[in-house]
Amino acid sequence: MAIQVAPEIETLRKEIQKKYTEVASNPELTFHFHHGLPLAKILEYPEELMAELPPEAVESFAGVGNPFSLGEIAPGETVLDIGSGSGFDSMIAAKMVGPTGKVIGVDMTDAMLEKSRKTAKTLGLTQLEFKKGYAEELPVPDRSVDVVISNGVINLTPDKSASFNEVFRVLKPGGRLYLADIVVYKPVPDAVKEDVDLWTA
Ligand SMILES: C[S@@+](CC[C@H](N)C(=O)[O-])C[C@H]1O[C@@H](n2cnc3c(N)ncnc32)[C@H](O)[C@@H]1O
Repeated sequence: MAIQVAPEIETLRKEIQKKYTEVASNPELTFHFHHGLPLAKILEYPEELMAELPPEAVESFAGVGNPFSLGEIAPGETVLDIGSGSGFDSMIAAKMVGPTGKVIGVDMTDAMLEKSRKTAKTLGLTQLEFKKGYAEELPVPDRSVDVVISNGVINLTPDKSASFNEVFRVLKPGGRLYLADIVVYKPVPDAVKEDVDLWTA
């Protein structure tokens, strides 16, 4: 029998949703991780891309890297952003794919979805839609996506194998994964796994 060390999945999801509701609703607060425009600058997102977006597109950005530094996205392609948050990366991808392409952002936190949908509407990005869902059960058909991007999300999922299985299910043959995430090189102690505050960070 497998021993479950991490918190129960529902408890964990609720705590993560609580944390990222705060990031969506109160981006002016200080968190124990970088966020917003200062973070985008640290991660060297091109100034010209950011200049095209309103402040609400970037103020709740909470990624850990820049997935666009890993490869190109072409006009007309279909992109999936797993854990799209307030939609910063999704909006950049939407500009890259243009009106003939498609970008789907998936997130489990209502406040993030509400914010990203509102900003996308303001920008008139009709090629961009946001869906509620989980990284472990993506609301996206098999073999339908050219590029999966994800920024700072898989580390938050308790079942990483399920998340990666979903990535490979939805990618078309020859599709690409541009992943920005946290990697640890040492086993994570049980006491850390049991601490819900450390999971949600
Ligand atoms: C660190 S934020 C990153 C958001 C966005 N990628 C960005 O770079 O700003 C993590 C986001 O992932 C979402 N999330 C966490 N676990 C998830 C899961 N299992 N399925 C879907 N979304 C998840 C949270 O709701 C939150 O919006």
